[in-house]
Amino acid sequence: MIRFENVGLRYGMGPEVLRDLTFEIRPQSFQFLTGPSGAGKTSLMRLLFLSLTPTRGLIRAFGKDTSALKKSQIPALRRRIGIVFQDFRLLEHLTTYENVALPLRVIGQEESQYRSDVVELLKWVGLGERMHVLPPVLSGGEKQRAAIARALITRPELLLADEPTGNVDPPLARRLLRLFIELNRLGTSVVIATHDLALMEQVDARRMELGEGRLQIHD
Ligand SMILES: Nc1ncnc2c1ncn2[C@@H]1O[C@H](COP(=O)(O)OP(=O)(O)O)[C@@H](O)[C@H]1O
Ligand SMILES: [Mg+2]
Repeated sequence: MIRFENVGLRYGMGPEVLRDLTFEIRPQSFQFLTGPSGAGKTSLMRLLFLSLTPTRGLIRAFGKDTSALKKSQIPALRRRIGIVFQDFRLLEHLTTYENVALPLRVIGQEESQYRSDVVELLKWVGLGERMHVLPPVLSGGEKQRAAIARALITRPELLLADEPTGNVDPPLARRLLRLFIELNRLGTSVVIATHDLALMEQVDARRMELGEGRLQIHD
């Protein structure tokens, strides 16, 4: 579904932070992206989300060479990808429900079309009772789940989650992991960036390990 061939990335005139990455994210696959802080996990997630352009190499997304796309063609591809940012990025003046519904409003859907889907998804992530409150009163774990629900509401084929357990306690981390596994079982590809070894030990999944700009894959 997404394929990198000899991809390299540098910021400005700095050194290459990612080098010669060649790999594929397959449909319905589940993988961890790991490596120490500063290894380039977030940069790689941004490349996968097509919000950053590589400085060399080729990225194919859903069968298309991304370097040959017009700017106007990118949003349609990105809509097939859900992303959970490390810092959540919830809008503080909108309720949990409104935050999760926002991606659908943006593409012009009416509330009558999506209301029950949003409510159902909020219940699935365990926020059924927190629908009508504003993000500032949510706990870290609740914000995390709201951000996950917002990433999933458009039913993406690929979910990217950047350090989704970075701000939660171990029981909630296990619960979030079960949520991602269940989502994968329902057919969504999942990439979880994490340096949490305890989390990765809980599932026998593919590991993509970044170190010194290079990627090692443990299938
Ligand atoms: N916007 C940016 N401009 C310049 N350098 C950046 C930028 N974002 C990240 N970097 C650098 O790229 C490297 C990888 O960062 P990052 O992708 O955030 O790693 P990780 O998520 O694994 O901690 C780091 O050296 C970081 O300083
Ligand atoms: Mg990061």
